[in-house]
Amino acid sequence: MTQDAEEKMGTGTIIQTNLPAQQVHPDLRRIVLTGFMGCGKSTLGRIMADRLGWTFFDLDECVEARTGLSVADVFALHGEAHFRHIESCALVSALGKRHTVIALGGGAPEVLKNRLLLEQTPGTLNIFLEAPFPVLFDRCVLQGISRPVLADPETAALRFARRQPFYRSLAHHTLAVANLQAEEAVESLMPVLAKPPKRVR
Ligand code: S3P
Repeated sequence: MTQDAEEKMGTGTIIQTNLPAQQVHPDLRRIVLTGFMGCGKSTLGRIMADRLGWTFFDLDECVEARTGLSVADVFALHGEAHFRHIESCALVSALGKRHTVIALGGGAPEVLKNRLLLEQTPGTLNIFLEAPFPVLFDRCVLQGISRPVLADPETAALRFARRQPFYRSLAHHTLAVANLQAEEAVESLMPVLAKPPKRVR
């Protein structure tokens, strides 16, 4: 059986994924990847969505689509509070989707409303991609993407430390990614998807 993860929708439409049904728990509706910048949320999310035949949803891209601005420009022109507001709106719409892998922005779990949404939306598996700050900082520098939150390394390190308890408390599953290639990381997460989303903690 290669395409037997089927679900009958109210319309009678049948959705098929690329994985056998038994590899994805039937209660699992969406997978959320969390962690600090550079941990690979978007890269792993795309690979995972592709393997499952699910949709990939990147919260930062959604903010950019809603505002017509880059994330850096939203910060520069409207400030972080405005960015966080749009990010929360994007999260609400992401959590309404099924068969979706969601890459959060690294700061989203700092917001209480976002944490409550992530904890309380049924069928949601929160996976924390963990790595030490120096590893992630170096990766971001190498990627050369402009991230407002990294402008000052000392402040970024403080944010990193402040966020760890939030990432951990949300996580149904934590994966140490510092020494893994993206494909290896996704491979090691596959067995987790077979467990009921509320009981993997
Ligand atoms: C941020 C992380 C970024 C983006 C924005 C703020 C943060 O997302 O949302 O620059 O506060 O850590 P990534 O974690 O996807 O880089």
